[in-house]
Amino acid sequence: MIIAGNFKSFKTREGTKEYLEKLEAEVLNSSSEVVIFPPSTALQSWKGKVSVGTQNAYPTENGAFTGEIGLEQLEEFQTKYILIGHSERREILKERDKFIAEKFDFFTENSFKVILCIGESLEIRREGEEKVLEFLNRQLEKIDLSKDFVIAYEPIWAIGTGITPTLQEIDSILEKLHKLSGKKVLYGGSVKLSNSVEILSLPNCDGVLVGGASLEPLDFAKMVSIADEVQK
Ligand code: PGA
Repeated sequence: MIIAGNFKSFKTREGTKEYLEKLEAEVLNSSSEVVIFPPSTALQSWKGKVSVGTQNAYPTENGAFTGEIGLEQLEEFQTKYILIGHSERREILKERDKFIAEKFDFFTENSFKVILCIGESLEIRREGEEKVLEFLNRQLEKIDLSKDFVIAYEPIWAIGTGITPTLQEIDSILEKLHKLSGKKVLYGGSVKLSNSVEILSLPNCDGVLVGGASLEPLDFAKMVSIADEVQK
């Protein structure tokens, strides 16, 4: 199981360090893969059970890309995980499939563990599962499925809203993504302590990508214990 926490634009370097100390103590003996994604300013070298990944980076070693960071900056912290294609970057920062694929190619070629996020809007979900799958397929079209990576299925309408698809809806999509890609598939979108047992217990769920509910280390640690317990 993979339990990943996306801090988005929350927490400072100091706050992230305190968080890591608390989380590490709780999950030390976990059989799950535990990774947090703090803001770039809070990246740090952390040698322990918990891995620290980056929410974003530019597909370059270094160069004239104002406001972005590249491999050189990530290497300073031995960062090896990256989120690519998160819906907030697609929607707010206007990242398109072509650019997402460029990032994907660059970071997989540089041995990063990529969590590729895909997910549909509410309009598409209302048209039914077939349309959702068509849309997700399109988001994967430029992605080289022969590479080693993890998919996070995150319906946009479930992110930060407290609303989630039904368990059957989640499992059905995860199952199809599994079949299509042969990759591990995580679910993300309003995962919290109270719904994590049922989501993590779904037959096709390989873990979760948690936003808001990952900000409290003890709650996040409890989700890791749940993942250990339901380990399939
Ligand atoms: P949320 O965010 O858990 O706050 O809904 C999930 C995500 O954006 O990855």
